Amino acid sequence: AARKHQSFKYDDLEIVQSKKLGKKPDWNKLVFGHNFSDHMLSIPWSETKGWDAPRIGPLKNIELHPAAKVLHYAIELFEGLKAYRGVDGRIRLFRPDQNMKRMNSSARRSGLPEFDGNELLRCMAQLIELDSSWVPQSPESSLYIRPTMIGNDPTLGVSRSKECLLYVISGPVGPYFPTGLKPVSLLADPSFVRSWPGSAGAFKMGSNYAPTILVGKEAEKQGCQQVLWLYGEDHQLTEVGTMNIAAYWTNENGEKELVTPPLNGLILPGVTRTSLLELAREWGVFKVTEKNITMKDIIKSIKEKRLIELFGAGTACVICPISRLLYLGRDIHIPVPVEGGDSVSRRFYNELLDIQYGRKAHPWAVDI
Ligand code: COI
Repeated sequence: AARKHQSFKYDDLEIVQSKKLGKKPDWNKLVFGHNFSDHMLSIPWSETKGWDAPRIGPLKNIELHPAAKVLHYAIELFEGLKAYRGVDGRIRLFRPDQNMKRMNSSARRSGLPEFDGNELLRCMAQLIELDSSWVPQSPESSLYIRPTMIGNDPTLGVSRSKECLLYVISGPVGPYFPTGLKPVSLLADPSFVRSWPGSAGAFKMGSNYAPTILVGKEAEKQGCQQVLWLYGEDHQLTEVGTMNIAAYWTNENGEKELVTPPLNGLILPGVTRTSLLELAREWGVFKVTEKNITMKDIIKSIKEKRLIELFGAGTACVICPISRLLYLGRDIHIPVPVEGGDSVSRRFYNELLDIQYGRKAHPWAVDI
């Protein structure tokens, strides 16, 4: 009975190597999420038996009963992190403990079982080791890792899933913008809301992403690449696309300041977001503030020539400069740093990549 409430253990990991190995893609033409490595990690759970032993085996399709809750009520959550091949050839992860913490918090919110993040990390390290030939050599490329949990209980009632599958897949990805930090334009339409007080917007659940597809298409129709998610009567900036957002400006007191919305329940607690805040506080050369930013603040700061940079921050693209907002029929141009020049976004980008690729020793980069 005690076992029911225990986490799975790395020591119970079983490894079955795939007999057939996949053909490697052209490392220079990787499209995000289109290529997968040879193996996957799977860990089933059931209410009666608790966690089963972790197993690494060949990547294969999952069999689901057509009534599986995940297919009806989207009982699903995921994580995204990368394994980087460093300049010294060693493979590192970036702050994977943060992903483990967030995954457990999403699991709790989804009524799915929690587990020991350290045990999962040790299993994941074995998976990456086994598929290490899939960690690209090319600069700014990496192996994207997708830990996932689904409620696969084969019953139709809207209730907690009594069965669950935790699995981890991975695949090589290239730099998000092959031509450097390429600025994007955003549709800021307050009639679409991603997250609101009491919603699950602060958790990495698939159900937060499905409703954004149509909005993304609308943005494209209007000539924008992504969506700027606004919230509230005062049109607070919350997130951009699948990323957190930050502004760098001269504030109304004449101080240089990095501002990002606080973790007020509407914001996904991004690992890149946290890292930018921590790095900036460590540098100590400008003010760092977590507070709401409204569209009025942005427009005023542009009018008064105080806005220096506006950018998205996430694991997939690291830093994504923003050059234009389409907002209530207005076409707002955002200043962007000159290519090759100094900027806060460039400094963040370089610093993070130096850590991730082992050019700079740092406790955030951990060997597998
Ligand atoms: C990000 O890192 O920006 C993401 O959230 C990635 C994603 C494909 C959902």
